Amino acid sequence: MHFELTEEHRAVQEAARDFAKNDLLPGVIERDIECRFPVDEIKKMGELGFMGMMVDPKYSGGGMDTVSYVIAMEELSKIDASASVVMSVNNSLVCWGMEKYASEAQKEKYLKPLASGQKLGAFALSEPEAGSDATSQKTEAYLEGDHYVLNGTKNWITNGSKADTYLVFAQTDHSKGHKGISVFIVEKGWEGFSQGHKEDKLGIRASDTTSLMFTDVKVPVENRIGEEGFGFKYAMETLNGGRIGIAAQALGIAAGAYEFAVAYSKERKTFGKPISQHQAIQFKLADMATTIEAARLLVYKAAWLKDQGEDYSHASAMAKLYASQVAMDVSIEAVQIHGGYGYVREYHVERLMRDAKITQIYEGTSEIQKIVISRGILR
Ligand code: CAA
Repeated sequence: MHFELTEEHRAVQEAARDFAKNDLLPGVIERDIECRFPVDEIKKMGELGFMGMMVDPKYSGGGMDTVSYVIAMEELSKIDASASVVMSVNNSLVCWGMEKYASEAQKEKYLKPLASGQKLGAFALSEPEAGSDATSQKTEAYLEGDHYVLNGTKNWITNGSKADTYLVFAQTDHSKGHKGISVFIVEKGWEGFSQGHKEDKLGIRASDTTSLMFTDVKVPVENRIGEEGFGFKYAMETLNGGRIGIAAQALGIAAGAYEFAVAYSKERKTFGKPISQHQAIQFKLADMATTIEAARLLVYKAAWLKDQGEDYSHASAMAKLYASQVAMDVSIEAVQIHGGYGYVREYHVERLMRDAKITQIYEGTSEIQKIVISRGILR
């Protein structure tokens, strides 16, 4: 058992840390206030290789392992969870499944620009009435000659109005239930495809979350990934990996809030000494550090299992369940340590606290993670 990062992992960590400090930190407060998507920052993340980290270089990716990916996610999320969710969706929800299941022609046309960061992807599974209950897809696609006709509405789609390429899940045969769901690649700009307004959110406010509307959109047959009816399996397998990315995001939010709190506790003085000298604060820091380390072990282990080709669905659900709770707990304590300063934007921790909440909701709520974990136990 090796707990040490390799040289390559440390290089990724350093690159991600530098980028977060130099490029994300300067405008992060303003982007949050103005709900402004980090356009230039995402472009640079593509240039640095953060948008398709695990994709084979022959498809313009970074050819790295999942451990490298979670390390980078952690570092970026310490500062800017709005930017890191864009990275997470593109890497694990869009590129990963395409690399595994798309045809060579699809990879050539769609995966390469996504993995290199030239284009951005979105994963359109959720619907107004199909969030946790993802099998209840109402969006439908019926075959007419050489194309499908796609109709329906998707909700809460990350990168909704900013993406170029969308993975859209739709019923192709209602009589088969979830085994009648298929997955399609849809391009922005196709006739009948429009995006709703950007949601005004509690946290990750700079990220782009919209609904998507499809009215008689013609999708060529060659844009279906895999066979008809393969869509739900595809979504579940993709989410197993996606949850590792969100767990790493939660870990980063917790670690970021903790680092801000440690630094502040050494500067801020009360009763004649830095607050870090008060046991009330020391105990908080000890609890925060311990739970962050436990979350990190779960996240890294899930990533490592995926890299070993082992089953990781159970481990990724555990990592997300635990790390997202730690993100909530630690960010609340970081605000408390900052006192009144923690309640204003300038000190970053209130943003991290707001950002933390979504990690208990998207890519499967904490309750869904418990379903996945308990089914694994009782299987
Ligand atoms: N891995 C692989 N396969 C899985 C799976 C998993 N984790 N979970 C379920 N499946 C498979 C089952 O084996 C079953 O396959 P078969 O029919 O071949 O046996 C099939 O999927 C249906 O599963 P169930 O019978 O268990 O269906 P269910 O309705 O009881 O439960 C669920 C399904 C696990 C609750 C599923 O609906 C689910 O995961 N819901 C949460 C959806 C979700 O995470 N949405 C996130 C949206 S994306 C997002 O948030 C992106 C973003 O913005 C950042």
